Amino acid sequence: MQDEGTAAADSTAVRVALWRAMHVQVDSPPHVLEDEIGLRLVAPDDGWRRRGDMDPRATRLFRASIVARARFIEDLAVEHSGRGVSQYVILGAGLDTFAQRRPAIASGLRVFEIDQPRPQARKRQRLIELGFGIPEWLRLVPVDFEAGPSWWDRLVTAGFDAGQPAVVASTGVAMYLTRDATVATLLQIAALATGSTLAMTFMLPLPLVEPEERPGRQATEKFARAAGGHPSSASSPRRRCWHWPTKPVFERPGTCRQAVLLSATSPAGRMVFGRQAQRSCW
Ligand SMILES: C[S@@+](CC[C@H](N)C(=O)[O-])C[C@H]1O[C@@H](n2cnc3c(N)ncnc32)[C@H](O)[C@@H]1O
Repeated sequence: MQDEGTAAADSTAVRVALWRAMHVQVDSPPHVLEDEIGLRLVAPDDGWRRRGDMDPRATRLFRASIVARARFIEDLAVEHSGRGVSQYVILGAGLDTFAQRRPAIASGLRVFEIDQPRPQARKRQRLIELGFGIPEWLRLVPVDFEAGPSWWDRLVTAGFDAGQPAVVASTGVAMYLTRDATVATLLQIAALATGSTLAMTFMLPLPLVEPEERPGRQATEKFARAAGGHPSSASSPRRRCWHWPTKPVFERPGTCRQAVLLSATSPAGRMVFGRQAQRSCW
C-alpha cells in the first residue's frame, strides 16, 4: 500500500462529489439525492463553488445526470438487499458515500469499494479523520483495472463470496478505461452467481448522441481526456449502441437473463432519470 501522506483524491471523483453537493446547495428541494459527505471528504477551498465546472446553470445537466444515476444505483442496491442479496460491489467507487449515508442498510450488506490505490488511500484517510472509520462490513479494495493483480482476485481476497449473488455498480468509470480493461471486467462480471445484477454507465459514440446533447457530451469528453481517460475507445460508430460495451456479456448464452438500456432520451430513461432529475435541477 502506498504512503497515505502522498495520496491524492482523483479529480474526476472530486468533480462528481462536488456536483452532488451542489445539487443540495443550489437546486430546489425535494432533492434527488442528499449527499454532502462527499464534499466533506474532498474538503475543498472556500471558493469551490466558483470553479468553472461548478457553474450552477452551465453545468445543471451534468449535475442532473450525476445525481440521477447515483439515486438509481442506490435504489437498485437497496431493492436487491431487500430481496436477500447481501453483496454490493462498487467499481471505481471514488467518493461514493452510500456506506456513510445509509449505514442502516449498508451494515446489513458487505460493501466492496474498488478504486485506484492512491485516491482510495486518501478516501480511507479522510473517512477516519471525519470519524466515519472503516466498519467491518465496508471493504476498500485497491485495484488499478489497467495494471497489477486482477480486481477479481483482490475482491475475493477481501471477502467476496463468488458463490453468492451481488449487485455490481460502475458509474462514470468505463470512459476512463481502455476497451481491453472494460471488456475484461465485463467478462469477469458475466461469471457472477445467478441472481446478480450489473448497473453501469457508458458513453455512446458521438454520432449516436442526440444533437441537443452533443455539446454536453463533447465537454464530458474533454473532462475525461484531461483526466487521462479514453473516451474515444468507448465505442465504435459503426456498431449499434447495444453492441458495446455489453456485447461480450450478452453474447454468452445463459449469461444475462434481462438487459435494460436506459438512455436519457429513451422513454424508460426519461421516466427514471428525467422525472427525478428534472424535478429539481432543470
Ligand atoms: C468519475 S469517477 C466516478 C466515481 C463514482 N463511481 C461516482 O459515480 O461518483 C471515476 C472513478 O473511476 C476510478 N478509476 C479510473 N481509472 C481507474 C482504474 N484504472 N482503476 C481503478 N479505478 C479507476 C477513479 O479513481 C474514479 O474514482
